[in-house]
This record gives sequence, C-alpha cells and structure tokens, in this order.
Amino acid sequence: MTPAVRTQGLRKEFALGWFRGRLLAVEGLDMEVRKGEVFGLLGPNGSGKSTAMKMILGLLRPTGGRAEVCGYRAGTISARRQIGFLPENPYFPNFLSGIELVRYYGRLSGMGGRKLETRIAELMELVRLGGEAGKRPLRTYSKGMLQRAGLAGALVGDPEVLMLDEPTAGVDPAGSREIRDLILELKERGKTVIFSSHLLEQVEDVADRVIVLHRGKKLREGRLEDLLSKKNEWQIRMQGLDERGVQLLGESAPRERLEDYFLRSLPEESRK
Ligand SMILES: Nc1ncnc2c1ncn2[C@@H]1O[C@H](COP(=O)(O)OP(=O)(O)OP(=O)(O)O)[C@@H](O)[C@H]1O
Ligand SMILES: [Mg+2]
Repeated sequence: MTPAVRTQGLRKEFALGWFRGRLLAVEGLDMEVRKGEVFGLLGPNGSGKSTAMKMILGLLRPTGGRAEVCGYRAGTISARRQIGFLPENPYFPNFLSGIELVRYYGRLSGMGGRKLETRIAELMELVRLGGEAGKRPLRTYSKGMLQRAGLAGALVGDPEVLMLDEPTAGVDPAGSREIRDLILELKERGKTVIFSSHLLEQVEDVADRVIVLHRGKKLREGRLEDLLSKKNEWQIRMQGLDERGVQLLGESAPRERLEDYFLRSLPEESRK
C-alpha cells in the first residue's frame, strides 16, 4: 500500500546571510508513515521538527531529497489535497468565532453551502466546541480551545493525513489529554496523524511509532514500547559528554529512557 508520507534523504539547509554561513536544519531524513498510523516526531527545540513538516506540506522547498504524500510529490496540488495542517503557534484573526474560522478554512478549500455547514456542525461537536462555545469570538478562547478550533479547521476538507505541529504546546494537562483523545478518535476514523512534540509524555500513549530527531538528524525510530522500557527504569544524569560518548551510551544501554537520552544526557552546549 502507498504510504501516507514518505521522505527519502530529505534535507534543508538555510542560508543565514553573508557572514553567518549556512545552517543544516534537516539532514538526510528517511521516514515512512503508513496509512492509519499515529506518528510522533520527537525532539528538543531546534531539532528540525517544524522544518521537516513544512517540507512534507510543500511550504518549504527541500535542498535535497524528496517527500511524498499518498504517493504524490510534496507541494503539488494533489499532495496538498491530502493534508490538513495545524501550525505551531497558529495566528487566527481573533474577531472571528470558532465556527467562522472553520467556515473560512472550508471556503479556502473550495467548500460551501449546506454541505459545509453540516461539516462545520459535525466538526465543532468532534472538537468539543459545540453549542455556544463555537459562537464566541476566538479572543475569548483558552489556548486549549484555540488549538481545538484550529484542529477543526485542519479537518474541514476531510484530509487523509493530518500534520499537527506541537498541538499540545502551552495547553494544560487536562487540555492536552483532550487533544490526545481527539488524535486517537481520528485514528479510529482511519486518519493518519503526524504530530510533533518535545515532550516524551505527550507522545507516549498516542503514537504508534516515533522518530527522535536531534540537530536535524534521526537519532532513533520505532515503536515506543520497543524504545522505552517501563519496567526497569533508570535515570542517568551526565554532563560533558561528547557526541561519541552519547553514541556509546546509546549502544551500551539500549533500554534507557529516550527522554534522558536526548534531553538530559547531552551536554548543555550541544542543546540548541
Ligand atoms: N527560516 C529559517 N531560517 C534560518 N534558520 C531556520 C529557519 N527555520 C528554522 N531554522 C533553524 O533550523 C533549525 C530547526 O528549526 P525547527 O523550527 O525546524 O525546529 P523544531 O524542532 O521545530 O523546534 P521547536 O521545538 O522550537 O519548534 C533551528 O536551528 C532553527 O533555528
Ligand atoms: Mg517547531
């Protein structure tokens, strides 16, 4: 079966200007997400999660490699039709109501009339913004409500693949739970969901598989159960480790908690 998303050697280098050279944000990323999977992109700040997502969405042009969505080359109209996107820190016109926001997204994707109104009503129920809440202006929404309204917007065209960039950032634990439940509900409906986070616990109980990124490179990939051991949990704190040391640690202690591996065991100066 054609994968929902496939990238091969995906690479993005940013030119920083005359004196500052270039920055390699994503380096040779190979990734394959099957249809119906919930896939997590995990990594600390600056590890290349958003850049990778934007290339898959066709919002940024790769400097190398390729990305496909449902078999279509990223950035083509056919590829874009398959994807719904919730950006990191989305900016919404705050005078619109939740319903108006979703209607706006719907019109942008060429929908209208009764069909759109029925779809909006369904989506507002799905994201728990039914009734009065959906009619209030966005400026009165909490962060969690805003993320859910954005998610409804991303879903309006009934895309196969959803890309959610840090959907739970800044949302409190109860709100994060609601968003994670929604992701699982979308999975039940057969959707593919790719989402990013820098927090392991946000990914842990939803993602079928994850990729751990660090400085634009894939550090680990697989099912979380395999990457994490919940039975024998050790916490090792280390400082002053160079990259070789980190690698050795990874080889000799394959069951370490990823969180410690990529956030705590790295020396301060190598964290971006
Ligand atoms: N337009 C740009 N121009 C130059 N550098 C950029 C640009 N966009 C991103 N970068 C750099 O690329 C690297 C990866 O950034 P990216 O936003 O993809 O990381 P991220 O994993 O999404 O981080 P965060 O968790 O903070 O959202 C960072 O070093 C960042 O500074
Ligand atoms: Mg980001």
